Amino acid sequence: MVKICCIGAGYVGGPTMAVIALKCPAIEVAVVDISVSRINAWNSEQLPIYEPGLDDVVKQCRGKNLFFSTDVEKHVSEADIVFVSVNTPTKTQGLGAGKAADLTYWESAARMIADVSKSDKIVVEKSTVPVKTAEAIEKILAHNSKKINFQILSNPEFLAEGTAIKDLFNPDRVLIGGRETPEGAKAIQALKDVYAHWVPVDRIICTNLWSAELSKLAANAFLAQRISSVNAMSALCEATGADVTQVSHAVGMDSRIGPKFLNASVGFGGSCFQKDILNLVYICECNGLPEVANYWKQVIKVNDYQKTRFVNRVVASMFNTVSGKKIAVLGFAFKKDTGDTRETPAIDVCRGLLGDKARLSIYDPQVSEDQIQRDLSMKKFDWDHPVHLQQSTPTSVEQVSFIGDAYEATKDAHGVCILTEWDEFKKLDYQRIYDNMQKPAFVFDGRNIVDAEKLREIGFIVYSIGKPL
Ligand code: NAD
Ligand code: UGA
Repeated sequence: MVKICCIGAGYVGGPTMAVIALKCPAIEVAVVDISVSRINAWNSEQLPIYEPGLDDVVKQCRGKNLFFSTDVEKHVSEADIVFVSVNTPTKTQGLGAGKAADLTYWESAARMIADVSKSDKIVVEKSTVPVKTAEAIEKILAHNSKKINFQILSNPEFLAEGTAIKDLFNPDRVLIGGRETPEGAKAIQALKDVYAHWVPVDRIICTNLWSAELSKLAANAFLAQRISSVNAMSALCEATGADVTQVSHAVGMDSRIGPKFLNASVGFGGSCFQKDILNLVYICECNGLPEVANYWKQVIKVNDYQKTRFVNRVVASMFNTVSGKKIAVLGFAFKKDTGDTRETPAIDVCRGLLGDKARLSIYDPQVSEDQIQRDLSMKKFDWDHPVHLQQSTPTSVEQVSFIGDAYEATKDAHGVCILTEWDEFKKLDYQRIYDNMQKPAFVFDGRNIVDAEKLREIGFIVYSIGKPL
């Protein structure tokens, strides 16, 4: 029986390994983590992450060929294939702070693998890492090993949160990079055999290590660039009377461009787009390519601009002040169908409104009050360092209340900001909301999900992204 161990039981490690266990009953999969609370949650009825379809998959295999454990060393030493899916956050201090990837967690995982291994292993980079990381990892493994052969593969993950299970069941592609040697080819084949249990072989792409590592950064940069492109257009639409939905529809009908990922929004969020682009920018700078670095930097600048623009619009349209006014925030997660708030645009928007002394009442169907308080008081880039390793205890932000219901959150509010595209926000009884709000009642739709015309008929003043008033 092949044994797989995955270090890191997070948004990637958990779902990916659960799907491998489901699709490969003859493989034993152990997911390990240093966070005891996370592992306890994986072993409980209340999984640590909300992801549609995940509960089902976990329930089918947990205790059979899928195990969650804190006994990291034991499972690593027994495994044939070790996936590493730990955090690779942006460095907060020192060389490259604010840009470079912090490989502390990766390096400590690699050192531990070297220490505890007693047999040959394939070590798989599942985390998103800077191009050339495999070279450093190889050095760590080679220098610590006792005649053990380690083959490093890069197998970046392309799943998106909220659709992780769907993406894993039916991936556009699986990418495996390895050394161009007979041993490298053998390792690639071994990992290919795992995925071939359910992924058509023509969708499993094999490349050299550096192409695989860089393709992941490139894919995220391209995706984020589309959003910044359409968001940049949204600003021009607002200035000219064009409608960004019509523009992106017309543009996306060109089969060379395609219709996906062209929704204008308050800005992209999530744990990876910004971090990976910053990392890409840093790599370009280190390789003496400032023009390339600046090109990609602009994607982030436009995203920051979009969030600031949103806040400015709220304040400006509410007579240039929101001081003391209650603003309801509907949605805090970075997208629908997830409870994840890492780098959510809601953090910057809320901070901007708080800076203008607004009182916020926030509702999100999947995000807890504690999480929101933590996010609003945490320093930039601290969020992606494992909670148990964070130094400071965040203090709670006054002027913010968390409300467990959209109607209660909007009661007596002067304005409503929709920041996540949860389906339930489309179906709210907006007449009821309007009746209970201060007048004039404003709606700022950061996701273009409500029917602005209908809301205007009710009496709301509605601002959508990139649409005429
Ligand atoms: P996460 O924070 O949810 O999970 C990482 C886990 O690793 C944490 O539970 C942490 O406790 C654990 N960990 C850290 N150091 C460890 C160590 N030395 N030993 C054991 N466990 C350790 O992160 P994530 O969202 O799963 O992302 C992991 C990687 O995958 C990142 O590089 C990210 O860029 C990449 N990625 C994420 C997504 C996504 O949608 N979240 C998608 C594709 C790729
Ligand atoms: C993204 C990529 O889609 C995945 O392929 C990748 O594996 C992952 O990053 C990663 O490396 O972490 P994710 O961040 O989970 O996945 O979610 P997306 O669906 O990409 O959305 C990212 C952000 O962009 C969200 O805030 C979303 O609301 C926003 N977005 C997306 C838009 O504003 N407009 C769009 O048209 C699409």
